[in-house]
Amino acid sequence: MQTITRLDMLRNNVAWLRRDGATLALVPTMGALHEGHLTLVREARRRADHVCVSIFVNPMQFGPNEDLDAYPRQLEADSALLEAEGVELLWAPSVEEMYPGGFATSISVAGVTENFCGADRPGHFDGVATVVCKLFNQVRPDIACFGEKDWQQLATIRRMARDLDLPAPMAGSIVGIPTVREADGLAMSSRNRYLTPEDRAAAAALPRAMRDAIGRIEAGESVSATLTALKDRLTEAGFTSVDYADLADADSLRPLTALAATPARLLVAARIGGTRLIDNMAVGAATV
Ligand code: PAJ
Repeated sequence: MQTITRLDMLRNNVAWLRRDGATLALVPTMGALHEGHLTLVREARRRADHVCVSIFVNPMQFGPNEDLDAYPRQLEADSALLEAEGVELLWAPSVEEMYPGGFATSISVAGVTENFCGADRPGHFDGVATVVCKLFNQVRPDIACFGEKDWQQLATIRRMARDLDLPAPMAGSIVGIPTVREADGLAMSSRNRYLTPEDRAAAAALPRAMRDAIGRIEAGESVSATLTALKDRLTEAGFTSVDYADLADADSLRPLTALAATPARLLVAARIGGTRLIDNMAVGAATV
């Protein structure tokens, strides 16, 4: 595996990997890799001849009071994991390489970013869209893999790729990978390590309560009453607050008050201790 920190070197390495028409998959990450990330890498490996993983803790997507400085950084351990997965390229630029002096451009995707994490974290999805667009243009992969764990992020990136006619990857080649969970159902996340053992045990109530709520909605119970009960249940389980717990159209992320013919998603963000956890699941027979 080649670890690359300079854009000119990246371009040379990508050209070399592609020399015989071989295909390339990109898996963008912020490092602190866990089984969720590695599942994306394995899927990328299945779908393309070569895999490039990027590790870049992107300052542009963190708000002023968020965990940018505290975000776990462990490049050596991460690169050992990626090497073992047979990854060919690790793209690990510095902040200066990604955002040289004078950098002034931002990509803002409207609509799909309006609610949920977009409302709670102003500017977050501008930062995500901008860095992902740059990563796409730097690596120019045939496909890119993202986790459904960050459903709003996946929807935002797909919207951006469609709207900007991105050529590499094209919107249809942005692959969503189902959320990888711990044995008790909690979605894997780099932020789970912030949880105390007590909070970690209590956090398993999140996916359980979501599954129960989905069962009730699918059985025809009132969406708003079910969502209220879901929030109460999370608070009783030890969550300090629920930022949102909503049903939304899976594509446009418009909130729904009842199931419709198109796929729907239950999206939740809730805090336990100082940590904000997010999760989402498909709702209804129309969903994939
Ligand atoms: P990061 O949080 O490191 O996640 C990298 C990728 O791994 C994302 O596509 C995310 O959805 C996926 N992922 C994380 N946990 C997962 C899980 N439990 N199951 C399946 N996939 C999972 O998301 C980002 O980084 C950044 O915003 C990024 C896209 C790299 C832009 O900076």
